[in-house]
Amino acid sequence: MAARRPLIAGNWKMNGLRADGVALARAVAGGAVIPCELVVCPPATLLAPAAEALSGSRVGLGGQDCHAQAKGAHTGDVSAAMLADLGCSHVIVGHSERRTDHGEDDATVNAKAKAAHAAGLIAIVCVGESEADRDSGRTLQVVGGQVEGSLPTGARAANTVVAYEPVWAIGSGRTPTPEQIREVHGHIRTTVAQCLGQPAADAMRLLYGGSVKPGNAAEILALPDVDGALVGGASLSADDFLAIGKSCP
Ligand code: PGA
Repeated sequence: MAARRPLIAGNWKMNGLRADGVALARAVAGGAVIPCELVVCPPATLLAPAAEALSGSRVGLGGQDCHAQAKGAHTGDVSAAMLADLGCSHVIVGHSERRTDHGEDDATVNAKAKAAHAAGLIAIVCVGESEADRDSGRTLQVVGGQVEGSLPTGARAANTVVAYEPVWAIGSGRTPTPEQIREVHGHIRTTVAQCLGQPAADAMRLLYGGSVKPGNAAEILALPDVDGALVGGASLSADDFLAIGKSCP
């Protein structure tokens, strides 16, 4: 099986003014961990200063969203090509906050991931069940359906990462049990194999996200089929983010 290098991605969400963003990016760059890959995803306004602060470091830069079109009359939106032009290597698509706040469905996420690929970016495609889905025993069905619907033709391990983020675990301090994470990640890998073939599934990195902290990272990152983490709140502290990076097996 192809080796999968762990990836820890920090999703800053809508946080930070310029001075905070530059300080945070510099602190992360200064402590970069070698055994895993680190990427930070600042808000769009901080991408350019963060790119400068990270330049020469091993820390990658990602956007938090992109439009499905390469350019045009889409007020307020940012295209994947614009992110690439600023030095981004990655972009998050289909985060549950986008799915909820902006009504994004799997078809939209699929089109955005495709746009990311066309611009040469790695798409971090987010999926995850709601609390109601989990309570009604539909987790695997919902997450499997999101994977099938959100991964575009042309997705492969080199241009796509899947992040499993249970909606109820995001920002809540609650995490699934290790057995629940293992079960969903195994199901995601099986679904990716059905969609894209076994070699792509074996090589594709699957991240866990939702209340990952320095205190629980080692246990989560050691699980089979977990190849890294998508970190929200804890990525706003360089110490915490780097501590999570150092927890990679
Ligand atoms: P959290 O967010 O780490 O604050 O739970 C994760 C995410 O939304 O990516």
